This record gives sequence, C-alpha cells and structure tokens, in this order.
Amino acid sequence: MLGVCYYPEHWPEAWWVEDARRMRELGIAYVRIGEFAWSRYERSRGQFQWDWLDTAMNTLGEAGLKVVLGTPTAAPPKWLMDEHPEIAPIDEQGRRRGFGSRRHYTFSSQVYREESARIVETLSRRYGEHPALVGWQTDNEFGCHDTVRSWGAEDLKAFRDWLRGAYQSADRLNQAWGSVFWSMEVGSFDEVSLPNCTVTEPNPAALLDYWRFQSQQVAAFNRMQVDIIRRYSPGRWITHNFMGFFNEFDHWLLGESLDFATWDSYPLGFLEGFPFAEAERGRWRTTSRPDIAPFHHDLYRGVGRGRFWVMEQQPGPVNWAPWNPAPAGGMVRLWAIEAHAHGAEVVSYFRWRQAPFAQEQMHAGLNLPSSHELSPGGREAAAAADDLMRLGDLPATVAAEVAIVYDYEAHWVAAILPHGADFRYPELVFRWYEAIRGLGIDVDFVPSGASLEGYRLVLAPSLPIVSASAEAAFAAAKGLVVFGPRSGSKTRHFSIPEELPPGSLQRLLRSRVIEVSSLRPGANIAIQGAISGNAERWRELVETSAEILAAFADNSPALVGNDNCFYLACWPDSRALRMLMELLCRKAGLSTIELPKGVRLRRRGDLTFAFNYAETSWPAPFGGEPLIGDASVAPRSFSVWRTSPAGRDR
Ligand code: GAL
Repeated sequence: MLGVCYYPEHWPEAWWVEDARRMRELGIAYVRIGEFAWSRYERSRGQFQWDWLDTAMNTLGEAGLKVVLGTPTAAPPKWLMDEHPEIAPIDEQGRRRGFGSRRHYTFSSQVYREESARIVETLSRRYGEHPALVGWQTDNEFGCHDTVRSWGAEDLKAFRDWLRGAYQSADRLNQAWGSVFWSMEVGSFDEVSLPNCTVTEPNPAALLDYWRFQSQQVAAFNRMQVDIIRRYSPGRWITHNFMGFFNEFDHWLLGESLDFATWDSYPLGFLEGFPFAEAERGRWRTTSRPDIAPFHHDLYRGVGRGRFWVMEQQPGPVNWAPWNPAPAGGMVRLWAIEAHAHGAEVVSYFRWRQAPFAQEQMHAGLNLPSSHELSPGGREAAAAADDLMRLGDLPATVAAEVAIVYDYEAHWVAAILPHGADFRYPELVFRWYEAIRGLGIDVDFVPSGASLEGYRLVLAPSLPIVSASAEAAFAAAKGLVVFGPRSGSKTRHFSIPEELPPGSLQRLLRSRVIEVSSLRPGANIAIQGAISGNAERWRELVETSAEILAAFADNSPALVGNDNCFYLACWPDSRALRMLMELLCRKAGLSTIELPKGVRLRRRGDLTFAFNYAETSWPAPFGGEPLIGDASVAPRSFSVWRTSPAGRDR
C-alpha cells in the first residue's frame, strides 16, 4: 500500500479537494498530516483554530483516504519559546540552540513535557475519534539534527535525579565510575557536573550513563504522548518515524510503547552520509547501495515486533546531503516494492508536492512545486501502485532463519572509546549484514537479551556489554552463535571485566583476550585457515582452549569455535567476512546463492523478490515465469516469483 505526507497548511484550501482526488487516483491510501503545524493549531496561548484542520481531515476522509495525524511537538511555536526560553536545547559547547528551524527543545524540560502533554491532549480529544483517523505519529524523528543530547541546566538537574535513582549514594557512584582516577570523586549528587566542556576526554562511564539517561528521556517523552493518545483515541494505532543510520537512543526501548515502527527512507541521502569509500559512493550515487534501505527495513521490522511502515520515502532528489542527485530511472519504483518485500505494510512518500518556499524548497515531491503535475518520482510511484495492485494481498512476513543482534549501547561504547579512529559499530554491523545478504539470506534483527529460539544462525558483530539475560539467551541458543571483536569487553559501568574480555562469554568461548591493537589504514594482517583474507582496523590477541579455525600471520587465533559458539578476533576485510558467512551458513545448513554486488533477494511468504541495482541484467537461476518482471532481472528493476514458502512462523 502507498501513502503520502501532506501539508494542507502549505497550500490554498481551494486545492485540497483536487489534491485528495489525485492522491486516490495515484493509488494512495494513507495520508500523514499535521506534525509541524503547532503554530497553526494554536496561534497564541489558548487561541486554537481548528477550522482548517476540520476541513482538511474531512476532505481527505471524504475522498476515501485514511489519515495519520502527527503530534506537533517537533516544532514548538515562537510564543511558547518566548514564554519559556528554558525549553531550548543547549549544545555540547554550552550554546543555546535558537528558534527558527525545528526540534528546538530539550527532552529534560519539565515545562516542555507539560506543554506537550497539553497540546497532545487537546489534539487527541478533538480528533481521536474522527472517522478519517486511523493512527498517530508521535513527534517527528526524535533526535534529528543532533537533538537527543542537550547540555544545559535542565538536563543537569534531571541527570542528577536519574543518578540518585540509579546509585543511591555518591560513594556507589564514585565506585561505579572509577572516579578515584584523576580525582574525579564527588561528595554528593549535587556535585555531579555534565560530562561536556572538559579539558580532555571525560570519564567514559559518566558519558555512557549520560547517554543512557538521555536515551531514556526520549523514551519517556514518547510514552507520555502515547499514554495520552490511548486515553482519547480508542482503536487507533500509534507509531513514530525513526531515522536511518541513527543510534543515539535505544530504539528497542522506545519501540516497546508503539503499536509498530515506521522509518524514513532516503537511500541516496544515506549513501552520502555513511562512511563509505569515495569509490563506493560514486558507483551507487543514483541508486544507493543495495543494502542500505533493506538493512533498515529489517531493523525496524524488528523494532516494530514484526510490523513496520516506511513513513517517508525519497521520491526524487533530497535537499540535505552534500550532493543530491536525482534517483536513476526505476529506483523510486524499485524502493517501494523492495520495502514491501521486507514486510512493509505501507510506503508513504515524502512529500505530496515540492514546497517552493522555506528550507526544503530543493526537496522533490510527487508533484512539481506549486502544481498539479506529477514529478518524475510521482510517475514512478504510480507505476509502483500498479505493481502492488498486480501482486494483490501480500503474504504474511515470517521470521527469518538468521538473526543479527543490534545493540545501541554497543555503538555508544565504541563511540566513547573508539581506540581506533575507524572502529565504527554501525558500519561493522552493516558490513556483516551486507556479507550475509550477498549470499541470498533473509535476516532479522533482535535486541541483546531477546530469545534466540528458532534461529539457525545468530550474528553478534560486536557486543561489548553482555547483560545476564543476553548471556542466558546465547547459552540457550540451539543455532550457531558468532561474536565479533570487543564482545564482552566491558562491564555495565564501562570498565574491563575482572576475568578479561570476553567477560562472561568466556564460558561459551573458552577464550580470553589479552591484548588489542587498532590498525591504521593499510596496516592489515593476513588471516589463513577456514577463512582467509585480512584483518583491518582491529585485531586481538586471544588465548584459547577452543578449536582454532583460522589464525593471523603470527599464528595467534583469528577465529575460534567452541561447540556452537564462535569468536572472530578482528575487523575482517570483505573477503574474510564473506568466507566467514559462507562457513557459518554451511555449518548451519543454510543454502546460499552467490549474488553479484548489485543484486539482492528477499522472500515474503511464497513470493521471492529479486532486486537489481546494477546496470546489467541478472539472469536469475530460478525456474518458472515471474509474476512481475523478467526471468533475467532488468537493470534498476525487480522480478517476483511464486515459490515455496521460506522462513518459519513467528
Ligand atoms: C526527514 C523529516 C522531514 C523532512 C525530510 C526531508 O528527516 O522527517 O520532515 O525534513 O527529512 O528529506
């Protein structure tokens, strides 16, 4: 199904009926509105004006569209900021971030919580049971523009309260943080300062706690909105639109209060923003890399406990990356079908019409600026609508046989003490993901500590902090479990475990790490054995009584295996990683298919989808005529076959 993001307040009211009619004509079923409209809901304190929203909701509803209403808390209006300047976030350098764009609030502002509760209650009381309304989006992209963490007086006050709850006494806090080092001890919680603007690096344990605290503030802010909406809007679902490659709060935690997850998919923008080599960026500049969008589809399907939407889909050039090319012909259509193949229930385009004014005037929409004429992306969205019509009701998405453990704290630990300039957790996970997807395998993402039952293979590319529940889940896993570098290397309070890394995982791995080295670019170390290639960026010196499956050039273990558990003691290059995935799939009894770089497969029930991002056709090795597309999958296109069902029941 398709949807679209629409801003009726940007257009003359006389256009709304025609817009709604043309949306239906295009095959659009859902419309998201309202997430930035606070200044139009409430011009000044208590002066509400609902006529326009009544008309907009009724117009969309009468056209047969289903409305998703956004709460407007991502953009508090000027009068509110003037009344309460303390709502504004403070940046890490201690500067106030001003009014004039969006997301100008800190999650720790008590006043802002109250004001947000007030507007959300007002809105949900008024529209909660509107016949056109099917669901809600809380706020918009929590954390966008670097706004999870704020560093002001409001934050400090809330952080001290949080620490009091977590540690009860200053002695325990000092102990947990190792504050004796550099004389950082405090005599009471009121002496705690924020870990910014320090002369050199702040205490990593303090920083980790600060990031945890801010992450929980985001989740609490969201839950406050959810609780209010549930009270006044029975039978409607609630979601939030998460971002791509964004790790500053724990999405698993926030996702617990939602009915399902949604995310905003800008494949070309993300290609520009992620640390890919220049050559990789160049090669995929108008298609995106084939694993960027799927990685997030799979991640957010996990966060949504099996259910997700794409709430915003790139329809053409965006405006916010360093370079903003138009997508290659075919890609806007491909991305929509690809999301559905990964289980999306709806793909909703951002936005209906390009705005000729303000910050995003260079961002494409489905329609040209100020007009009723489809853009190139709009025409492809129409083609995607036809494809979806031909496919009919899509089969249910079932659990995959391979899971990747994705852990936000793992990112924070590596970001706080990288030890090597290019040890980047999100990139490491992405590399593992693309290696196994290159073998034609479907993947689920799970949080650390989740049950691993039913998975034949579990990948934990790096998991520095292993909770007791995670350890128990790994120990109970019947499938193969493979851990990557730095797993088990830190306690919850950011210190090295007494028994040395991998900490409590030593029981499963019969190995310990006695030294680590980060490797500057080019300082690679060869690996030989069951896998071969190079360690780059990172390698560890491991002592083991487990089986050594591959070794570094100096004969120390690179890959060890103990029963169903494995440990990889480095950041592998693409060859070693590919061989590792092949080895694990073989051992796990998973059948693989060697895919070219530009081709990916995905099953949904009894449908097999093949997506071709490359410039040449891919002769698919499946028999039978595809339902859509050609047996030789055309460039920048896709084909769909009916096959026997894959995966397993969730
Ligand atoms: C998203 C955001 C939208 C819009 C869009 C432009 O991050 O949610 O409001 O700014 O980017 O690509």
